[in-house]
Amino acid sequence: MDGLYHIIEAQQFSREVMKGIFGLTREMEQVVSRYGSNILNRRIMATLFYEPSTRTRLSFEASMYRLGGQVITTESAREFSSAAKGETLEDTIRIVEGYADVIVLRHYESGSARRAADVAAVPILNAGDGPGQHPTQALLDVYTIQKEIGRLDGIRVALVGDLANGRTARSLAYLLTKYEDVKLYFIAPDMVRMKDDIKAYLAEHGVAFVEEEDLMKIMPEVDVVYQTRIQRERFGDRIADYEKVRGKYIIDPAAMAVLSDKAIVMHPLPRVDEIDQAVDKDPRAAYFRQAHNGVYIRMALLQMVLEA
Ligand code: NCD
Repeated sequence: MDGLYHIIEAQQFSREVMKGIFGLTREMEQVVSRYGSNILNRRIMATLFYEPSTRTRLSFEASMYRLGGQVITTESAREFSSAAKGETLEDTIRIVEGYADVIVLRHYESGSARRAADVAAVPILNAGDGPGQHPTQALLDVYTIQKEIGRLDGIRVALVGDLANGRTARSLAYLLTKYEDVKLYFIAPDMVRMKDDIKAYLAEHGVAFVEEEDLMKIMPEVDVVYQTRIQRERFGDRIADYEKVRGKYIIDPAAMAVLSDKAIVMHPLPRVDEIDQAVDKDPRAAYFRQAHNGVYIRMALLQMVLEA
């Protein structure tokens, strides 16, 4: 279609390519309601996951099955694959590419998807590389904003929580630079503020952003509140630091009371306690709908990379 091959980082997508992806994604919603298709019949996808996952792995696998393809999988690859014996990622990729037509990789090191793509003979889809990026999540996030709010140009988005280690927030910030008049609000505890690489990229691309302390002040101003989990696994044995930052920003009924009627709350999930469960029944709570969009987006991406 657009020659989409490896999916490594959000910056690689142009507005035009995203338009194509979202168009196909809408068609995939129809495909699922007709019980799938056979377009990827006899194709095999390998999911190689070195870090925990529920949504990303299962939605990729569901997507492949929905399109008639087959799946081979290793979860907990850090413990259960040959990595545990000392095999390098590069060697593992050279092996798995002989078994599958596309590899979906989640790894604990930033830059690992790029390393894999450098040696791979099949498309590598980055399903999260440590604190680096999570581009397929960002695509489903942008698709969700378009579907729920009806536009992307002029959108005002608050990114909340662990913006230093949260790869989904990082990828989303990159993707939103493709739209006009976007304004981003970064609301994070001091220790986990948005990193300079993203801020420099936004400045270079003329995207307005502010760092804010006060969540309640921002709630009435935005179209989207994108809440994220404090990434405990990135704190190692710095438990005291983790305890210091968690709980600082919680979306609860009081916060919802000042959010605009037309705004939505998103979260890549899993949630710990940063969104009060009392918020779930609010129609503006979009996070479960958001997660379901992951299947359609990943169906579109698999078709595009495998049909290229
Ligand atoms: C996220 C991730 O793994 O980066 N989860 C997901 O893929 N939806 C967010 C998180 O773990 O907090």
